[in-house]
Amino acid sequence: MLVREVEALVAPAPGRRVLDCTLGLGGHAERILAGGCDLIGVDRDPAALARAADRLAGHAPRFTPWPGTFADAVEDHAARGVRFDAVLADLGVSSMQLDDAARGFSIRSPERAAMTMSGERPDAVDFIAAAGEAGIADILVRYGEEHRPRAVARALCRAVAEGRTSGAELAEAVRRAIPGRHPRHPAMRAFQALRIAVNDELGQLERLLDRVADILAPGGVAILISFHSLEDRLVKHRFRDQVAAGRLAAAARKPVLPDDEEQAGNPRSTSAKLRWGRAP
Ligand SMILES: C[S@@+](CC[C@H](N)C(=O)[O-])C[C@H]1O[C@@H](n2cnc3c(N)ncnc32)[C@H](O)[C@@H]1O
Repeated sequence: MLVREVEALVAPAPGRRVLDCTLGLGGHAERILAGGCDLIGVDRDPAALARAADRLAGHAPRFTPWPGTFADAVEDHAARGVRFDAVLADLGVSSMQLDDAARGFSIRSPERAAMTMSGERPDAVDFIAAAGEAGIADILVRYGEEHRPRAVARALCRAVAEGRTSGAELAEAVRRAIPGRHPRHPAMRAFQALRIAVNDELGQLERLLDRVADILAPGGVAILISFHSLEDRLVKHRFRDQVAAGRLAAAARKPVLPDDEEQAGNPRSTSAKLRWGRAP
């Protein structure tokens, strides 16, 4: 996603140090490593990390995998005084995670709606069972802008209580709870909200934004690619505040968007927004 734009900001060259907070399948990392940089690649998904490590093995010893969350990685490097010329975070889930039915991210998945990037429990089904109707309704409003939160929350909680826990079964429960015509499957908003909540995606992003300026070398750049307005708003406001506080020298005034060619070739890219912030 936005690979050329990321490359232009990172300006890969031998000796430059990069922290890729969201290694995924290593698409961005491969281009950056090809330019001669040293790169630490973080991912909380052990399956993604293993596949990327395999793909990037030819770049050892300049490539180092780092298993875990990017919030922990940023805080750990900040505590040790490590600095990077570029820090990249391409937020959200990968197409590999979305398309793998066994991970339960999809409304069509016949498997348990787990939805955790790490593959660990508690997962989304545990989360629904523990949060109850009021808790789930709150999540649906905050992270999914759900129009009928109480009806959807009730349907999800009932389905889980009755053992209907696959992605497809939960999606069907939502569809029945809010009948009528919808521009896209009515469970999409609920699935987005559950995924954000169960992976604490906004909490992770806040922790990254709190410390990223501390791990940038002079003139270093933080590059954030987000996929929904909650994330983009957070990035925009934090960068603006950090410029005002002198922790960053400059930040993107407007988001960089994928060009027409990328949007035509990759429908998922249409909601991507890149923002950067540069250290003094
Ligand atoms: C959109 S994909 C990244 C794709 C990657 N840039 C590429 O070119 O292949 C996001 C990846 O980041 C990981 N991820 C998301 N949030 C994370 C977090 N808080 N900590 C660590 N990894 C995270 C996901 O597991 C997923 O593999």
